[in-house]
Amino acid sequence: MAPIASTLVAVLGAASLASAQTPNRPGTQNRYPFAKPYEQSFLDGYSVLKHVGGQGPYSNRDSYGISRDPPAGCAVDQVIMLKRHGERWPDPAPAANFKASLQKVYNTNTTAWTGALEFLNRWTYFVPDGRYIALESYNGPYSGLLDGYRHGAEYGVRYGHLWNQTAANLTIPMFSSGYERILTTARKFGEGFFGWNYTDVVAMNIIPEQVYMGANSLTPTCLHDNDTAICGNLTNLQPQFRLAATRLNAQTKNLALNATDIYNLMQMTAYELNVRGYSDWVDVFSLDEWLAFGYTQDLSYYYCSGPGDKNMKAVGAVYANASLSLLNQGPDAASGGNALWFNFCHDTNITPVLAALGLSSPAEDLPLDHIPFPNQYNTGNIVPMGGHLTIERLACNATAVTDKDTYVRLVLNEAVVPYAGCQDGPGFSCSLANYTRLVSASLPDFISTCGFNSSYPQYLDFWWNYNTTRAYDVETQNPIPAGEGLLTYQGTAA
Ligand SMILES: *[C@@H]1O[C@H](CO)[C@@H](O)[C@H](O)[C@H]1NC(C)=O
Ligand SMILES: *[C@@H]1O[C@H](CO)[C@@H](O)[C@H](O)[C@H]1NC(C)=O
Ligand SMILES: *[C@@H]1O[C@H](CO)[C@@H](O)[C@H](O)[C@H]1NC(C)=O
Ligand SMILES: *[C@@H]1O[C@H](CO)[C@@H](O)[C@H](O)[C@H]1NC(C)=O
Ligand SMILES: *[C@@H]1O[C@H](CO)[C@@H](O)[C@H](O)[C@H]1NC(C)=O
Ligand SMILES: *[C@@H]1O[C@H](CO)[C@@H](O)[C@H](O)[C@H]1NC(C)=O
Ligand SMILES: *[C@@H]1O[C@H](CO)[C@@H](O)[C@H](O)[C@H]1NC(C)=O
Ligand SMILES: *[C@@H]1O[C@H](CO)[C@@H](O)[C@H](O)[C@H]1NC(C)=O
Ligand SMILES: *[C@@H]1O[C@H](CO)[C@@H](O)[C@H](O)[C@H]1NC(C)=O
Ligand SMILES: *[C@@H]1O[C@H](CO)[C@@H](O)[C@H](O)[C@H]1NC(C)=O
Ligand SMILES: *[C@@H]1O[C@H](CO)[C@@H](O)[C@H](O)[C@H]1NC(C)=O
Ligand SMILES: *[C@@H]1O[C@H](CO)[C@@H](O)[C@H](O)[C@H]1NC(C)=O
Repeated sequence: MAPIASTLVAVLGAASLASAQTPNRPGTQNRYPFAKPYEQSFLDGYSVLKHVGGQGPYSNRDSYGISRDPPAGCAVDQVIMLKRHGERWPDPAPAANFKASLQKVYNTNTTAWTGALEFLNRWTYFVPDGRYIALESYNGPYSGLLDGYRHGAEYGVRYGHLWNQTAANLTIPMFSSGYERILTTARKFGEGFFGWNYTDVVAMNIIPEQVYMGANSLTPTCLHDNDTAICGNLTNLQPQFRLAATRLNAQTKNLALNATDIYNLMQMTAYELNVRGYSDWVDVFSLDEWLAFGYTQDLSYYYCSGPGDKNMKAVGAVYANASLSLLNQGPDAASGGNALWFNFCHDTNITPVLAALGLSSPAEDLPLDHIPFPNQYNTGNIVPMGGHLTIERLACNATAVTDKDTYVRLVLNEAVVPYAGCQDGPGFSCSLANYTRLVSASLPDFISTCGFNSSYPQYLDFWWNYNTTRAYDVETQNPIPAGEGLLTYQGTAA
């Protein structure tokens, strides 16, 4: 497909975070002989976006068909979100791998490419050394900066009623872990949500990604995590990669790619989508090969930062437990009536929280020797770039079958995911009382599990002790000092 055409398709396809699941309802406008009121072809399962794990552009989680809007008789009165940074350029180590594998391609000295790699007659590499490395992308349909802004703008429509615009000198805190691309995402989101009022209203708090923060962190870790043996050895095992290598090597004289190179080039493809919005490399690999690549990502998240790692439920318990406190305080008691709690971190800080809440956790460990179908732990559904977990507190009137009460709903990448074992509330929500009881009973203890002693902060505290300075709302001429770990800047040469 020509670049321009595929970009256009991508723009239309990526139109909205919030409305993508709105069905094409039958109605007078749709009673047109050529428009199907209900789509018959569910081709989304074949989208490459679902098979690049956390490396590629955002897509909504596959939905169970539960309405994204609040159930009838309910209104959201508090929202707590944990969002990953937007689409970005590769980090230094993968970028070096891309160059090494591309070098093997170009070292064939081919002057006229044919077959699957014919496009190399025109293609150019897209990652400049230096400053762009590790930062968010800025052009194209999958621009990372646009992801943050658009998400904020859409949440402004969905949750803007929780922003009390008549309150004088209102401060709404936002929280970013101390990493450049994450802070950038938080700022774009804030600009999208609060518009011209962003710098009047928001107090951006930066929570250092440092071990000394203990539990008072958006990025908690264990002091000793010993599972690197399995974690470092999950990729490149897929026979599909050897198959692709053999196929491509047969098409080009002197080409000697191996499974590692195929893995690197597939990973590179995901980043080309982030940066350019299209990639000729997508079609170099078969759907089965993309599925295999995606599964390597699932294994990595599952065993290294998800439910397959014995410590990760405890790591995620920090946020899960603290959010229980916020939910039980509600919008009126907490921090001057604020009901908006927007937090920003990395993918591997969200997967532990999901593990702690049992969200998307398969009943059995993911197999290492084959790809399971169905695969509940498809990370394209869990932590794509821009992935986010949104906890909604619902104030609901009585219905014929449910009481007037406060309920909780978990929304993962814009799909409602009922909390296991408690879904009797409106819209498959759980009453706040039951949710609190069940979640608190299930959480392991972070401090003891992760080897911290009493000299470290024992709880997440910053939601109740935030700073009101607007100094970090925007980029200034004077970068935030990296000293004391306040902010980690990336962008050094590959
Ligand atoms: C709940 O009921 C009250 C009283 O009828 C009504 O004013 C309010 O709008 C209802 N809330 C929702 C979310 O429907
Ligand atoms: C490609 O060209 C370079 C420089 O002329 C040469 O050193 C190298 O051996 C060539 N590679 C192959 C595979 O012919
Ligand atoms: C938002 O900005 C407008 C225009 O500057 C101002 O009138 C309004 O008071 C601001 N609202 C808040 C909540 O700061
Ligand atoms: C909004 O702020 C105003 C002024 O402080 C206050 O009177 C009002 O009760 C607030 N509204 C809500 C819904 O909290
Ligand atoms: C709002 O902030 C301004 C500037 O800091 C201050 O002069 C004013 O008294 C504040 N108003 C209220 C109602 O707190
Ligand atoms: C885990 O790692 C720590 C330090 O890295 C080491 O002291 C400890 O013995 C290891 N535990 C296991 C079970 O390997
Ligand atoms: C990596 O996995 C392969 C295949 O499962 C296994 O043979 C090898 O011993 C593993 N290597 C390490 C360092 O665990
Ligand atoms: C593929 O080749 C690279 C060197 O180009 C090497 O580092 C890597 O280990 C090889 N991978 C496999 C699976 O043999
Ligand atoms: C809450 O839990 C109690 C006890 O298990 C149960 O009777 C009740 O139906 C639950 N309510 C909701 C809304 O889930
Ligand atoms: C959750 O936090 C409360 C304090 O807010 C604390 O008392 C409780 O022990 C914590 N639970 C876990 C499992 O961390
Ligand atoms: C806690 O552990 C740190 C090392 O991680 C150590 O320096 C400190 O002395 C310990 N404090 C207590 C109270 O045991
Ligand atoms: C607020 O600022 C103080 C002083 O700079 C700092 O020690 C504290 O960690 C900050 N708190 C947050 C939540 O950023």
